[in-house]
Amino acid sequence: MEKREQLYEGKAKKVFATDDPALVIVSYKDDATAFDGLKKGTIAGKGVVNNRMTNMMMTLLEQKGVPTHFVEEISERETVVKKVNIVPLEVIIRNVSAGSFAKRYGVEEGIPFDEPTVEFSYKNDDLHDPLINDYHAVALHLATWEEIALIKKYAFKVNEVLKAYFLTLGVKLIDFKLEFGKLADGTIVLADEISPDTCRFWDAKTNEKLDKDRFRRDLGGVEDAYREIFKRVTEGK
Ligand code: TMP
Repeated sequence: MEKREQLYEGKAKKVFATDDPALVIVSYKDDATAFDGLKKGTIAGKGVVNNRMTNMMMTLLEQKGVPTHFVEEISERETVVKKVNIVPLEVIIRNVSAGSFAKRYGVEEGIPFDEPTVEFSYKNDDLHDPLINDYHAVALHLATWEEIALIKKYAFKVNEVLKAYFLTLGVKLIDFKLEFGKLADGTIVLADEISPDTCRFWDAKTNEKLDKDRFRRDLGGVEDAYREIFKRVTEGK
């Protein structure tokens, strides 16, 4: 596997071509942004945590029947993944009220739902990732009805698997954001990352936040939170 030219640089990751047109290398940065890039910073060691944690989650999910883009971790910060066209929808699953849900509907954070919820945002920085419903997504040709049905099915399965898994680590999975991609033949696979950048993790006993909200909300202890969740994932307790 040969690493070639950089194809793309996002807020938290870079993507490089390889000598295989079906594969790319993702490289995780320590850069952190929030509120559409308005807030910028660095979280030392984040790239390593997010790379390794994402790969562990993708491996677990593959075992549980969710197809993913994951191929092979090649270094602390770099992973080979299948090249996909990202479906421009952020898929958000929530188990407990928090974040924009709590704000939008005027409820406190921490209220558990009877059933998980799903919502979509249109992945478009110029428009600030607006909420979008499935009819609008189909109207804009962002995805077909069949693709949206499959994406929802996979997203709820991811929730089921990860919620149970994190509970064994003493962590409540409050909510998270997923992205899906399409392989050259149109197959939908889970892509992007599953990390403290894209999930809310609360300690099951104390409700202490072990995720990027510590950065977004200037709560302090950002690096410690990433280290703590990573320790639990790697030590399995
Ligand atoms: P929200 O409550 O701010 O809508 O966030 C819901 C979940 O999505 C939360 O776990 C954080 C994650 N998220 C991202 O991964 N990227 C984003 O740009 C935003 C706004 C949220």
